[in-house]
Amino acid sequence: MTVVDDVKSRLDIVEVVSQRVPLQRSGRSFKANCPFHQEKTPSFHVFPDRQSWRCFGACATGGDALSFVMRADNLEFGEALRQLAQQTGVTLPQRGQRPRDEAVQKINEDTRAFFQRTLASAQGASAREYLEQRGLDKLAVEAFEIGLSPSDGESLKNHLIREGYTPEQLASAGVVRTGDDGVNHDLFRGRLMFPIRDAHGNLVGFGARSLDGSEPKYLNSPQGPMFDKSRILYALDRARTDVRRDGVVIVEGYMDAIAAHQAGFKNVVAQMGTALTEFQVDALRRLTGKMTMALDQDAAGQAATLRSLDVILENFRTKVVKHQGPDGSPQASDPDPRIIVMPAGQDPDEVIHRSPSDWAKLVESAIPAITFRIKAAKNNGDTSSPQGKAQIVAEVAPSIHSLGEGIQQANAVELLAQELGVPIDTVKAALSRPSVARRTRRVEQRPSAAATSPFAKLDHDPVEEYCLQLLLNYPELREQANGLKPEFFRRHENRELFSQWLDTGPGLDKDATIELLRTDDGGELTGHLNMLLEKQQIPLDVSVRMAALLEVVSRLEERNLRELKAEEGIRFTESPPDLEDGEHDDILQLNQRIKNNEGLRRGQIQEITR
Ligand code: UTP
Ligand code: MN
Repeated sequence: MTVVDDVKSRLDIVEVVSQRVPLQRSGRSFKANCPFHQEKTPSFHVFPDRQSWRCFGACATGGDALSFVMRADNLEFGEALRQLAQQTGVTLPQRGQRPRDEAVQKINEDTRAFFQRTLASAQGASAREYLEQRGLDKLAVEAFEIGLSPSDGESLKNHLIREGYTPEQLASAGVVRTGDDGVNHDLFRGRLMFPIRDAHGNLVGFGARSLDGSEPKYLNSPQGPMFDKSRILYALDRARTDVRRDGVVIVEGYMDAIAAHQAGFKNVVAQMGTALTEFQVDALRRLTGKMTMALDQDAAGQAATLRSLDVILENFRTKVVKHQGPDGSPQASDPDPRIIVMPAGQDPDEVIHRSPSDWAKLVESAIPAITFRIKAAKNNGDTSSPQGKAQIVAEVAPSIHSLGEGIQQANAVELLAQELGVPIDTVKAALSRPSVARRTRRVEQRPSAAATSPFAKLDHDPVEEYCLQLLLNYPELREQANGLKPEFFRRHENRELFSQWLDTGPGLDKDATIELLRTDDGGELTGHLNMLLEKQQIPLDVSVRMAALLEVVSRLEERNLRELKAEEGIRFTESPPDLEDGEHDDILQLNQRIKNNEGLRRGQIQEITR
């Protein structure tokens, strides 16, 4: 039995769901108003026999206990598994960095407490004064766990050794460093210490500001698997709830974020001196589509802003991510990237301390990112020739397409035409020219993490594994996998791997894809991935391979439809009075889809193997 099965076998779906949603019995199943969308009549059902749930309403999705917790608590697969394993007393196998991570976090927590005590002690007098002069109050210092590192370069090391850590452990946590004299010293000396937590509150490292003007101004924990600046947003752990409700405001520095929180703007996070990355945008998009960037307007700042902006827009263009809205229902994160134009030479920290209402006004008047993007392209481009104008259109085309069709896009097209001094229709035609449009094809929507009934008796599912093996080994089969959905996979490890594979997007070769999959999770899936890559019985002939893939896709889809039908069946016999208009057709439609599906794939397979 795999760990996932072990955890699931100890859970009762009725119990798991009813901890979060009040359930009503309805024959052999239970029902409730769906927690994932707004509704008046209950279309959310829980099937104890099958240990599954399904929303027959707007969500049209379902799954098992694990996927319910993922959605309800807005967790990723690994997080949900860890949480449920803890609840059910299952010990997860420690893969990859995990045991080391825990030790490092413990050292970090002890270190943080030590720095906080130092700040509060007599040694901390001038640092406390500095904080006061920067306008930080006691509550903010407390909330952000700000501390001070002693300047002697030995105190922390000695303290931690007394606590029982070995010098090796301290070195691997990155809090000490071997000096020129070959002896370990504290890495941080006489600096103001900002503990850095990841989105889930794990203490992963420190930012340290110099107090005496020495360079660098900020020294950060060494980059490593645990402290990876490109994946962390400062203060996101504290901002989560407000970000979900109000959208996120992204500032540049620690001090900016702390000032904002202190003044009550709690949806603010800081990127730490680098352009936004894909990972960071992904993390934010799970919470909101409304992203407002307040970044420096000097030349370097502008360039960084543009880069970050392009990462956001590209993310919106290529991925559809649903996040849990304030009322718990899944929402498509409508792209709404904006830019705050800061008054020259000022940063958010200064504005907020001078006047919180000025800051509120700045945020309020943030301009749509696309406007900023178009103006930047115009300023950097050549508007004197038709070629120059065409180049500007091509440059902003992906951004415009990323907005999706609608009022935002229409406005952008109008603005672009106006800025370039050409008729709207000319711009529209240029935007839809194949060479421009091809670059902006939206990948197919990634369905929410939905599982179907987990009835698998085996520890593994040969059909699912074969399907993944084909896709992993032959990236060119991606096209044949069109229509294959994560929810067709019953086994979580396969579904997750497939979802991640979808996210890697087309155009990569085998090695690059696998590399991405390996680095893309905390080690949960790597073992499984390796196993799949080792076990191979793939047909060598191209056409046989294609046919084989179509065949397995068809089998997985069919199985999914049959399960849907079984659940529909239970619901219909149990609670016919709940039918909303048009629902009677569901079963008929399912039958039809099963038939069509069979016919369609058979045809395709014959076509290929003929
Ligand atoms: P800033 O120089 O704007 O820092 O750099 P700040 O937070 O506003 O600090 P104060 O107001 O001068 O005290 C923005 C961010 O860039 C990263 C830090 O994360 C910083 O908060 N940075 C900056 C570094 O990592 N190293 C540096 O040397 C400088
Ligand atoms: Mn600053």
